[in-house]
Amino acid sequence: MSKKWTRNTVAVAAILSALCLSTNALATSEQTATAEQKETMRFEPRNEQFAKTHGDQYKTWEATKESEQIEDGLEEDPNMVVLWAGYGFSKDYNKARGHFYAVTDVRQTLRTGGPKDEKSGPMVMACWSCKSPDVARVIDERGEDGYFEGKWARLGAEINNAIGCSDCHNSGSKEFAEGQPALQLSRPYAARAMETIGKKFEDQSRFDQQAQVCGQCHVEYYFTGPNKSVKFPWDKGTTVDEMEVYYDELGFKDWTHAVSKTPMLKAQHPGYETWRDGIHGKNNVTCIDCHMPKVQNEDGTVFTDHKVGNPFDRFEDTCAQCHTQDKKTMQDIVAERKASVTEMKLRAEKQIVAAHFEAKAAWDAGATEEEMKPIQMDIRHAQWRWDYAIASHGVHMHAPEVALRILGTALDKAADARTKVVRLLATKGITAEIQLPDISTKAKAQQALGMDMDKLNAEKEDFLKTVVPEWNKQANEREATY
Ligand code: HEC
Ligand code: HEC
Ligand code: HEC
Ligand code: HEC
Repeated sequence: MSKKWTRNTVAVAAILSALCLSTNALATSEQTATAEQKETMRFEPRNEQFAKTHGDQYKTWEATKESEQIEDGLEEDPNMVVLWAGYGFSKDYNKARGHFYAVTDVRQTLRTGGPKDEKSGPMVMACWSCKSPDVARVIDERGEDGYFEGKWARLGAEINNAIGCSDCHNSGSKEFAEGQPALQLSRPYAARAMETIGKKFEDQSRFDQQAQVCGQCHVEYYFTGPNKSVKFPWDKGTTVDEMEVYYDELGFKDWTHAVSKTPMLKAQHPGYETWRDGIHGKNNVTCIDCHMPKVQNEDGTVFTDHKVGNPFDRFEDTCAQCHTQDKKTMQDIVAERKASVTEMKLRAEKQIVAAHFEAKAAWDAGATEEEMKPIQMDIRHAQWRWDYAIASHGVHMHAPEVALRILGTALDKAADARTKVVRLLATKGITAEIQLPDISTKAKAQQALGMDMDKLNAEKEDFLKTVVPEWNKQANEREATY
């Protein structure tokens, strides 16, 4: 099947020697760049600054704005409103779109609320972390604590450029100026996490480094310490089981579930972790091979296509580099896998949703904390596993067998929870089936949870009208001084 697959062949030797050259180039440029130069240029946040010097990369990066469609995840699957009850994601959850919109979208989502000043609002500074090269700049200027401390609105005027060059490149290096990649991890917490799993960035091959730059954001993380700073829960490993043990030993919870009162975990988007466990990851076929292929411009110059999006849109430059099947065959395979993952996802959701309401019925019937503990533990684990699988966007492509296994264990844990809770309910004299409210649409599910959506929407509208323009104004003034 993979006739053209050449990673172990001569072509690879050529690439690797090119890598050695570029690594040497990096060392030299680091030595020659003055300290001052590095400080002022290392995290240039303004992507437009590279429009002239790196035209091909800039133009294709900018084209991520073509992926502009907003898809409402809760509308599509209202179960999730209940699963995330009491947490921001039950207010609003859109599917991912182009990198170009990262800052716009985090400002617009109801999850970040309508803060009036730097002290109000539901979210913390960490919520900016995967949205902008300004994050790297501010950490560089103020240190990690100086970035993380306080509420999300505190540095709203500082974070205003969408995911771009300095998120992945040492954009101030001589090497970068000369057109070399000079990849870097711009987030110190990501660099530490890679070291924790024995994959220190500087010691990795070119391919591993490519995947790691994506792995700064497309990963599982949580907020910890007094400043709620970002940490990846990788001390015991990166599988769903290892992270679960890690969180349990810490006694960590992201929130308390509004229906079942369970101490919950929210999986973020462990794409890097699940990719590693899939067939491509195991063969070191990286995110870049599929999402950022090498292409030619009109002059025949080979460059990296920076329009990170769906690899099927560029089939000839991506899959077809290694596989001989035609596009339709491949797309059908992936679509079939998506259908299986979606089916298992919905089955798991049905059980976990029921478990939350049954647990509530048990509380209402006077169950004690002691009695509820084992049930809540099963609910916590079931939902963590469900979330880990589905929040790894693209998992049906990257590692379908991993997703299916994890969803299978989620179903199993949910079944355990339900068996236990039904027995407990029986001891309280409740034997009838617990009725669920109408959660057939997003609006009905939100209503069933007593969420005041009108208020949330009005606050957001006001925030976008009054606070955001002020942030933009301040950002423009600041950048004019660079
Ligand atoms: C999400 C990460 C990411 C972002 C954002 C990003 N790049 Fe890249 N860039 C890469 C990767 C990965 C490569 C390929 C590295 C390799 O070949 O080993 C690359 C390669 C390059 C190269 C080397 C030449 C080439 O085309 O292969 C240049 C120059 C470059 N990028 C410029 C830019 C500019 C300018 C921006 C902002 C407009 C940008 N990049 C944004 C990840 C990124
Ligand atoms: C600085 C953090 C960050 C980095 C680095 C990053 N991403 Fe993303 N990525 C995001 C965020 C945030 C979104 C969602 C943006 C939105 O919906 O507003 C996203 C969206 C995406 C999407 C969906 C695009 C679409 O059009 O639907 C893909 C695919 C993707 N990223 C792949 C990658 C790959 C591959 C890399 C590495 C080359 C990478 N990302 C690096 C944060 C990042
Ligand atoms: C072997 C090719 C391949 C590799 C390697 C790969 N991806 Fe993907 N990825 C895809 C394809 C194809 C899709 C779209 C699947 C579909 O059409 O249903 C996708 C989807 C995604 C999505 C979801 C986009 C959306 O809008 O929902 C994200 C995010 C993503 N990939 C990020 C990554 C990251 C990060 C890595 C590396 C850690 C990676 N991918 C590695 C092929 C790949
Ligand atoms: C850089 C090379 C490379 C690229 C690009 C690539 N693959 Fe693969 N693919 C591989 C390798 C290597 C394997 C494992 C082959 C084996 O074990 O026989 C594989 C295996 C597969 C398999 C079979 C394994 C399984 O899960 O059953 C499928 C399906 C597949 N790739 C689809 C894709 C699709 C779709 C794309 C584009 C989005 C893609 N690949 C891009 C190298 C690549």
